[in-house]
Amino acid sequence: MKYPVKNFIKCLISNFILKKPTPLFISLEVTRRCNAKCPFCGYWRLEEPELTVEEIKGVLDEAYDLGCSIAVMTGGEPLLRRDLPSILEYAKEIGLSVILLSNGYLLKDRVSDFCNYVDAVNVSIDFPDVHHDKNRGLNGLLERTVSGIKLLRALEIATNINCVVTGKHSLEDVRKILFLAKELDSQFTFSPVFITPHQYPHGSILGETLEKDKEVMRVANWNLVKSVADMLLYYKKHGFRKTIQNSSAYLKLVRDKGRFTCFPFSFQFAVASDGTVSAVCPASLFGSHNLGNALKQNLKDIWYSKKAQILRDKFKECKLSESLGCYLFCVAEPSLPFTNPTTIIDYIRSGLETLR
Ligand SMILES: C[S@@+](CC[C@H](N)C(=O)[O-])C[C@H]1O[C@@H](n2cnc3c(N)ncnc32)[C@H](O)[C@@H]1O
Ligand code: SF4
Ligand code: SF4
Repeated sequence: MKYPVKNFIKCLISNFILKKPTPLFISLEVTRRCNAKCPFCGYWRLEEPELTVEEIKGVLDEAYDLGCSIAVMTGGEPLLRRDLPSILEYAKEIGLSVILLSNGYLLKDRVSDFCNYVDAVNVSIDFPDVHHDKNRGLNGLLERTVSGIKLLRALEIATNINCVVTGKHSLEDVRKILFLAKELDSQFTFSPVFITPHQYPHGSILGETLEKDKEVMRVANWNLVKSVADMLLYYKKHGFRKTIQNSSAYLKLVRDKGRFTCFPFSFQFAVASDGTVSAVCPASLFGSHNLGNALKQNLKDIWYSKKAQILRDKFKECKLSESLGCYLFCVAEPSLPFTNPTTIIDYIRSGLETLR
Protein backbone atom coordinates (compact mmCIF):
# COMPACT_ATOMS: atom_id res chain seq x y z
CA MET A 1 0.00 0.00 0.00
CA LYS A 2 1.25 3.48 -0.81
CA TYR A 3 0.85 5.79 2.20
CA PRO A 4 0.73 9.54 1.63
CA VAL A 5 4.23 10.05 3.00
CA LYS A 6 3.84 13.70 3.99
CA ASN A 7 0.86 13.14 6.28
CA PHE A 8 2.25 9.90 7.63
CA ILE A 9 5.50 11.53 8.75
CA LYS A 10 3.57 14.51 10.11
CA CYS A 11 1.43 12.13 12.13
CA LEU A 12 4.42 10.32 13.64
CA ILE A 13 6.26 13.53 14.53
CA SER A 14 3.13 15.13 16.05
CA ASN A 15 2.15 12.11 18.10
CA PHE A 16 5.50 10.85 19.26
CA ILE A 17 7.74 13.92 19.36
CA LEU A 18 5.42 16.89 19.84
CA LYS A 19 2.91 14.76 21.83
CA LYS A 20 0.07 16.39 19.93
CA PRO A 21 -2.65 13.91 18.85
CA THR A 22 -2.80 13.76 15.06
CA PRO A 23 -5.01 11.19 13.36
CA LEU A 24 -3.73 8.64 10.90
CA PHE A 25 -7.14 7.16 10.05
CA ILE A 26 -10.64 8.37 9.44
CA SER A 27 -13.16 5.55 9.70
CA LEU A 28 -16.11 6.65 7.62
CA GLU A 29 -19.44 4.85 7.71
CA VAL A 30 -20.69 5.38 4.19
CA THR A 31 -23.90 3.54 5.06
CA ARG A 32 -25.45 1.54 7.84
CA ARG A 33 -27.55 -0.52 5.46
CA CYS A 34 -26.51 -4.13 5.27
CA ASN A 35 -27.44 -7.20 3.27
CA ALA A 36 -26.24 -9.55 6.03
CA LYS A 37 -27.69 -10.29 9.44
CA CYS A 38 -24.73 -10.99 11.68
CA PRO A 39 -25.82 -11.86 15.21
CA PHE A 40 -22.90 -9.98 16.79
CA CYS A 41 -23.55 -6.71 14.99
CA GLY A 42 -26.59 -4.50 15.27
CA TYR A 43 -26.17 -2.30 12.19
CA TRP A 44 -28.55 -4.26 10.02
CA ARG A 45 -31.42 -3.68 12.41
CA LEU A 46 -31.10 0.08 12.13
CA GLU A 47 -32.58 2.50 9.66
CA GLU A 48 -30.28 5.46 9.44
CA PRO A 49 -29.75 8.38 7.11
CA GLU A 50 -26.73 8.49 4.82
CA LEU A 51 -24.38 11.32 3.97
CA THR A 52 -24.54 12.47 0.37
CA VAL A 53 -21.49 12.21 -1.86
CA GLU A 54 -20.95 15.96 -1.59
CA GLU A 55 -21.17 15.85 2.21
CA ILE A 56 -18.68 12.98 2.29
CA LYS A 57 -16.28 14.86 0.02
CA GLY A 58 -16.37 17.79 2.47
CA VAL A 59 -15.63 15.45 5.40
CA LEU A 60 -12.73 13.84 3.51
CA ASP A 61 -11.24 17.26 2.69
CA GLU A 62 -11.34 18.23 6.35
CA ALA A 63 -9.91 14.86 7.41
CA TYR A 64 -6.99 15.32 5.03
CA ASP A 65 -6.38 18.86 6.34
CA LEU A 66 -6.41 17.49 9.87
CA GLY A 67 -3.57 15.16 8.93
CA CYS A 68 -5.28 11.85 8.11
CA SER A 69 -3.42 9.59 5.71
CA ILE A 70 -5.84 6.71 5.43
CA ALA A 71 -9.60 6.59 4.87
CA VAL A 72 -11.22 3.38 6.06
CA MET A 73 -14.55 3.07 4.26
CA THR A 74 -16.87 1.03 6.40
CA GLY A 75 -20.54 0.33 7.03
CA GLY A 76 -22.96 -1.43 7.19
CA GLU A 77 -22.02 -2.83 3.84
CA PRO A 78 -20.32 -0.09 1.77
CA LEU A 79 -20.80 -1.95 -1.52
CA LEU A 80 -24.57 -1.43 -1.23
CA ARG A 81 -23.96 2.19 -2.21
CA ARG A 82 -24.09 2.51 -6.01
CA ASP A 83 -22.17 5.79 -5.79
CA LEU A 84 -19.34 4.30 -3.71
CA PRO A 85 -16.77 4.44 -6.57
CA SER A 86 -17.10 8.22 -6.83
CA ILE A 87 -16.47 8.52 -3.07
CA LEU A 88 -13.39 6.28 -3.25
CA GLU A 89 -12.12 8.06 -6.33
CA TYR A 90 -12.35 11.42 -4.57
CA ALA A 91 -10.53 10.13 -1.49
CA LYS A 92 -7.65 8.94 -3.68
CA GLU A 93 -7.66 12.14 -5.70
CA ILE A 94 -7.05 14.30 -2.60
CA GLY A 95 -4.19 12.05 -1.51
CA LEU A 96 -5.66 9.60 0.98
CA SER A 97 -4.96 5.88 0.94
CA VAL A 98 -8.20 3.95 0.85
CA ILE A 99 -9.07 0.77 2.71
CA LEU A 100 -12.49 -0.71 1.97
CA LEU A 101 -14.25 -2.96 4.48
CA SER A 102 -16.77 -5.43 3.08
CA ASN A 103 -18.62 -8.59 4.00
CA GLY A 104 -17.62 -9.84 0.54
CA TYR A 105 -21.02 -10.68 -0.95
CA LEU A 106 -20.99 -8.03 -3.67
CA LEU A 107 -17.25 -7.95 -4.28
CA LYS A 108 -17.23 -10.00 -7.45
CA ASP A 109 -20.07 -7.98 -8.99
CA ARG A 110 -18.53 -4.62 -8.20
CA VAL A 111 -14.79 -5.09 -8.25
CA SER A 112 -14.38 -3.52 -11.68
CA ASP A 113 -16.25 -0.37 -10.53
CA PHE A 114 -13.89 0.43 -7.67
CA CYS A 115 -10.61 -1.44 -8.24
CA ASN A 116 -8.76 1.70 -9.37
CA TYR A 117 -9.58 3.57 -6.19
CA VAL A 118 -8.61 1.23 -3.34
CA ASP A 119 -5.28 0.30 -1.79
CA ALA A 120 -6.57 -2.59 0.26
CA VAL A 121 -9.80 -4.45 0.98
CA ASN A 122 -10.62 -5.97 4.35
CA VAL A 123 -13.08 -8.84 4.02
CA SER A 124 -14.86 -10.72 6.79
CA ILE A 125 -14.76 -14.52 6.96
CA ASP A 126 -15.77 -15.97 10.31
CA PHE A 127 -16.20 -19.67 9.51
CA PRO A 128 -14.50 -21.81 6.84
CA ASP A 129 -17.72 -23.58 5.78
CA VAL A 130 -21.49 -23.25 5.48
CA HIS A 131 -21.64 -21.87 9.04
CA HIS A 132 -20.32 -18.60 7.65
CA ASP A 133 -23.37 -18.20 5.38
CA LYS A 134 -25.69 -19.27 8.20
CA ASN A 135 -24.06 -17.02 10.80
CA ARG A 136 -24.31 -13.97 8.54
CA GLY A 137 -27.69 -14.91 7.05
CA LEU A 138 -26.54 -14.78 3.41
CA ASN A 139 -26.64 -17.86 1.19
CA GLY A 140 -23.55 -18.32 -0.95
CA LEU A 141 -21.60 -15.70 1.01
CA LEU A 142 -18.39 -17.69 1.55
CA GLU A 143 -18.14 -18.80 -2.07
CA ARG A 144 -18.81 -15.29 -3.39
CA THR A 145 -16.33 -13.77 -0.93
CA VAL A 146 -13.56 -16.17 -1.97
CA SER A 147 -14.24 -15.38 -5.67
CA GLY A 148 -14.07 -11.67 -4.87
CA ILE A 149 -10.74 -12.04 -3.06
CA LYS A 150 -9.32 -13.97 -6.04
CA LEU A 151 -10.34 -11.15 -8.39
CA LEU A 152 -8.77 -8.54 -6.13
CA ARG A 153 -5.52 -10.50 -5.80
CA ALA A 154 -5.38 -10.99 -9.56
CA LEU A 155 -5.43 -7.18 -9.76
CA GLU A 156 -2.68 -7.07 -7.11
CA ILE A 157 -4.93 -5.32 -4.61
CA ALA A 158 -3.97 -6.21 -1.03
CA THR A 159 -6.63 -8.09 0.92
CA ASN A 160 -7.04 -8.97 4.56
CA ILE A 161 -9.43 -11.59 5.90
CA ASN A 162 -10.76 -10.63 9.33
CA CYS A 163 -12.20 -13.41 11.47
CA VAL A 164 -14.35 -12.53 14.48
CA VAL A 165 -14.01 -15.35 16.98
CA THR A 166 -17.19 -16.06 18.96
CA GLY A 167 -18.35 -18.60 21.51
CA LYS A 168 -19.38 -20.86 18.62
CA HIS A 169 -15.92 -21.23 17.10
CA SER A 170 -13.49 -24.09 17.28
CA LEU A 171 -9.73 -23.77 16.94
CA GLU A 172 -9.94 -25.72 13.71
CA ASP A 173 -12.35 -23.14 12.21
CA VAL A 174 -9.76 -20.42 12.69
CA ARG A 175 -6.88 -22.59 11.46
CA LYS A 176 -8.77 -23.38 8.24
CA ILE A 177 -9.45 -19.69 7.56
CA LEU A 178 -5.78 -18.91 8.17
CA PHE A 179 -4.76 -21.56 5.63
CA LEU A 180 -7.38 -20.26 3.20
CA ALA A 181 -5.91 -16.76 3.56
CA LYS A 182 -2.45 -18.08 2.74
CA GLU A 183 -3.74 -20.04 -0.24
CA LEU A 184 -5.42 -16.87 -1.56
CA ASP A 185 -2.24 -14.83 -0.90
CA SER A 186 -4.30 -12.67 1.46
CA GLN A 187 -3.43 -11.38 4.88
CA PHE A 188 -5.29 -12.48 7.99
CA THR A 189 -6.38 -10.93 11.31
CA PHE A 190 -8.53 -12.12 14.14
CA SER A 191 -10.50 -10.26 16.80
CA PRO A 192 -12.42 -11.77 19.67
CA VAL A 193 -16.09 -10.77 19.44
CA PHE A 194 -16.78 -7.60 21.39
CA ILE A 195 -19.85 -6.89 23.50
CA THR A 196 -20.72 -3.26 24.16
CA PRO A 197 -21.14 -2.52 27.84
CA HIS A 198 -24.37 -0.56 27.58
CA GLN A 199 -26.30 -3.69 26.77
CA TYR A 200 -24.10 -6.18 28.45
CA PRO A 201 -24.36 -9.13 28.10
CA HIS A 202 -26.39 -8.87 24.88
CA GLY A 203 -25.05 -5.74 23.19
CA SER A 204 -23.05 -5.41 20.02
CA ILE A 205 -20.93 -2.77 18.34
CA LEU A 206 -24.11 -0.87 17.63
CA GLY A 207 -27.79 -1.56 17.98
CA GLU A 208 -29.86 -4.33 19.47
CA THR A 209 -28.92 -7.97 19.46
CA LEU A 210 -31.20 -10.82 20.34
CA GLU A 211 -31.45 -13.02 23.41
CA LYS A 212 -31.11 -16.09 21.20
CA ASP A 213 -27.73 -14.81 19.94
CA LYS A 214 -26.13 -14.37 23.31
CA GLU A 215 -24.02 -17.51 22.91
CA VAL A 216 -22.45 -16.06 19.78
CA MET A 217 -22.06 -12.68 21.39
CA ARG A 218 -19.60 -13.64 24.03
CA VAL A 219 -16.66 -15.94 24.37
CA ALA A 220 -17.67 -17.56 27.64
CA ASN A 221 -14.56 -19.71 27.75
CA TRP A 222 -11.50 -17.52 27.17
CA ASN A 223 -9.42 -20.69 26.73
CA LEU A 224 -10.63 -20.72 23.14
CA VAL A 225 -9.19 -17.24 22.53
CA LYS A 226 -6.00 -18.32 24.31
CA SER A 227 -5.66 -21.31 22.03
CA VAL A 228 -6.30 -19.19 18.93
CA ALA A 229 -3.68 -16.66 20.01
CA ASP A 230 -1.14 -19.39 20.83
CA MET A 231 -1.80 -21.08 17.50
CA LEU A 232 -1.27 -17.82 15.60
CA LEU A 233 1.92 -17.10 17.56
CA TYR A 234 3.15 -20.56 16.53
CA TYR A 235 2.26 -20.08 12.86
CA LYS A 236 3.82 -16.63 12.80
CA LYS A 237 7.13 -18.40 13.45
CA HIS A 238 6.40 -21.25 11.06
CA GLY A 239 5.69 -19.93 7.61
CA PHE A 240 2.82 -17.48 8.16
CA ARG A 241 4.63 -14.29 9.23
CA LYS A 242 3.59 -12.52 6.05
CA THR A 243 -0.01 -13.74 6.34
CA ILE A 244 -0.83 -13.02 9.99
CA GLN A 245 -1.22 -9.29 10.56
CA ASN A 246 -1.96 -9.38 14.29
CA SER A 247 1.31 -8.45 15.99
CA SER A 248 2.87 -10.87 18.48
CA ALA A 249 2.33 -8.24 21.19
CA TYR A 250 -1.40 -8.12 20.35
CA LEU A 251 -1.70 -11.90 20.35
CA LYS A 252 0.01 -12.16 23.75
CA LEU A 253 -2.15 -9.36 25.17
CA VAL A 254 -5.36 -11.04 24.05
CA ARG A 255 -4.18 -14.48 25.14
CA ASP A 256 -3.48 -13.21 28.64
CA LYS A 257 -6.58 -10.96 28.73
CA GLY A 258 -4.13 -8.21 29.62
CA ARG A 259 -4.63 -4.51 30.11
CA PHE A 260 -3.41 -1.88 27.73
CA THR A 261 -3.52 1.89 27.60
CA CYS A 262 -6.19 2.55 25.04
CA PHE A 263 -5.96 5.32 22.44
CA PRO A 264 -9.14 5.00 20.37
CA PHE A 265 -9.20 8.71 19.65
CA SER A 266 -5.57 9.68 19.16
CA PHE A 267 -4.68 8.11 15.83
CA GLN A 268 -8.19 7.71 14.48
CA PHE A 269 -11.79 8.77 14.68
CA ALA A 270 -15.10 7.60 13.29
CA VAL A 271 -17.68 9.53 11.32
CA ALA A 272 -21.07 7.83 11.39
CA SER A 273 -23.61 7.76 8.59
CA ASP A 274 -25.34 10.85 10.01
CA GLY A 275 -22.09 12.79 10.46
CA THR A 276 -21.66 12.04 14.18
CA VAL A 277 -17.99 12.04 15.18
CA SER A 278 -16.79 9.63 17.85
CA ALA A 279 -13.81 7.57 18.89
CA VAL A 280 -13.39 4.17 17.23
CA CYS A 281 -14.53 2.65 20.48
CA PRO A 282 -17.64 0.53 20.89
CA ALA A 283 -18.20 1.94 24.35
CA SER A 284 -18.06 5.53 23.17
CA LEU A 285 -20.71 5.46 20.51
CA PHE A 286 -23.46 6.52 22.80
CA GLY A 287 -24.73 9.60 24.59
CA SER A 288 -22.24 12.07 25.92
CA HIS A 289 -19.33 10.33 24.25
CA ASN A 290 -20.26 11.73 20.86
CA LEU A 291 -17.95 14.60 20.12
CA GLY A 292 -19.85 16.56 17.54
CA ASN A 293 -21.19 16.38 14.03
CA ALA A 294 -19.01 16.73 10.94
CA LEU A 295 -21.88 18.35 9.03
CA LYS A 296 -22.18 21.14 11.55
CA GLN A 297 -18.64 21.68 12.79
CA ASN A 298 -15.18 21.62 11.32
CA LEU A 299 -13.34 18.38 12.11
CA LYS A 300 -10.38 20.36 13.47
CA ASP A 301 -12.64 22.06 16.06
CA ILE A 302 -14.02 18.68 17.11
CA TRP A 303 -10.63 16.95 17.21
CA TYR A 304 -8.93 19.64 19.31
CA SER A 305 -11.95 20.41 21.52
CA LYS A 306 -11.68 20.23 25.30
CA LYS A 307 -14.22 17.41 25.32
CA ALA A 308 -12.04 15.36 22.98
CA GLN A 309 -9.02 15.86 25.21
CA ILE A 310 -10.96 14.86 28.32
CA LEU A 311 -12.16 11.71 26.57
CA ARG A 312 -8.64 10.82 25.44
CA ASP A 313 -7.52 10.88 29.05
CA LYS A 314 -10.57 8.93 30.17
CA PHE A 315 -10.09 6.20 27.53
CA LYS A 316 -6.54 5.61 28.73
CA GLU A 317 -7.98 4.38 32.00
CA CYS A 318 -10.54 2.09 30.35
CA LYS A 319 -10.68 -1.36 31.91
CA LEU A 320 -13.15 -2.89 29.48
CA SER A 321 -10.45 -4.91 27.75
CA GLU A 322 -10.24 -7.18 30.78
CA SER A 323 -13.87 -7.27 31.80
CA LEU A 324 -15.58 -7.36 28.40
CA GLY A 325 -12.76 -8.62 26.20
CA CYS A 326 -12.57 -5.44 24.10
CA TYR A 327 -9.57 -6.14 21.91
CA LEU A 328 -10.62 -4.74 18.53
CA PHE A 329 -7.40 -5.04 16.56
CA CYS A 330 -7.93 -1.69 14.82
CA VAL A 331 -7.87 0.03 18.22
CA ALA A 332 -5.61 -2.18 20.32
CA GLU A 333 -2.81 -2.52 17.75
CA PRO A 334 -2.08 1.20 17.30
CA SER A 335 -2.40 1.70 21.06
CA LEU A 336 0.07 -1.03 21.97
CA PRO A 337 3.36 0.83 21.44
CA PHE A 338 2.35 3.03 24.38
CA THR A 339 1.93 0.02 26.66
CA ASN A 340 4.84 -1.94 25.26
CA PRO A 341 7.36 0.11 23.21
CA THR A 342 9.05 -3.04 21.82
CA THR A 343 5.91 -3.55 19.70
CA ILE A 344 7.35 -0.99 17.30
CA ILE A 345 10.05 -3.52 16.32
CA ASP A 346 7.36 -6.10 15.57
CA TYR A 347 5.50 -3.57 13.40
CA ILE A 348 8.60 -2.55 11.45
CA ARG A 349 9.48 -6.21 10.87
CA SER A 350 6.01 -7.10 9.59
CA GLY A 351 5.94 -3.93 7.45
CA LEU A 352 9.17 -5.06 5.80
CA GLU A 353 7.83 -8.62 5.36
CA THR A 354 4.78 -7.22 3.57
CA LEU A 355 6.95 -5.23 1.18
CA ARG A 356 9.07 -8.26 0.24
C1 LIG B 1 -19.01 -3.38 11.17
S1 LIG B 1 -18.25 -4.33 9.90
C2 LIG B 1 -18.43 -3.33 8.44
C3 LIG B 1 -17.89 -3.95 7.17
C4 LIG B 1 -18.61 -5.17 6.62
N1 LIG B 1 -20.01 -5.07 6.70
C5 LIG B 1 -18.09 -6.44 7.24
O1 LIG B 1 -18.84 -7.13 7.92
O2 LIG B 1 -16.90 -6.73 7.03
C6 LIG B 1 -16.49 -4.14 10.24
C7 LIG B 1 -15.87 -5.31 10.97
O3 LIG B 1 -16.39 -5.36 12.30
C8 LIG B 1 -16.54 -6.72 12.66
N2 LIG B 1 -17.51 -6.81 13.76
C9 LIG B 1 -18.84 -6.60 13.73
N3 LIG B 1 -19.38 -6.79 14.96
C10 LIG B 1 -18.35 -7.13 15.78
C11 LIG B 1 -18.25 -7.45 17.18
N4 LIG B 1 -19.33 -7.45 17.96
N5 LIG B 1 -17.04 -7.76 17.68
C12 LIG B 1 -15.91 -7.75 16.88
N6 LIG B 1 -15.94 -7.43 15.58
C13 LIG B 1 -17.14 -7.14 15.03
C14 LIG B 1 -17.02 -7.35 11.36
O4 LIG B 1 -16.89 -8.76 11.34
C15 LIG B 1 -16.14 -6.68 10.34
O5 LIG B 1 -14.93 -7.39 10.16
S1 SF4 C 1 -20.72 -7.15 10.63
FE1 SF4 C 1 -20.81 -6.20 8.61
S2 SF4 C 1 -21.97 -7.69 7.39
FE2 SF4 C 1 -22.40 -8.16 9.49
S3 SF4 C 1 -24.32 -7.06 9.95
FE3 SF4 C 1 -22.54 -5.81 10.64
S4 SF4 C 1 -22.18 -4.45 8.95
FE4 SF4 C 1 -23.40 -6.15 8.15
S1 SF4 D 1 -10.66 -0.82 25.53
FE1 SF4 D 1 -10.51 1.04 24.24
S2 SF4 D 1 -11.83 0.64 22.45
FE2 SF4 D 1 -12.39 -0.82 24.08
S3 SF4 D 1 -14.10 0.13 25.20
FE3 SF4 D 1 -12.18 0.69 26.27
S4 SF4 D 1 -11.54 2.67 25.41
FE4 SF4 D 1 -13.04 1.75 24.01
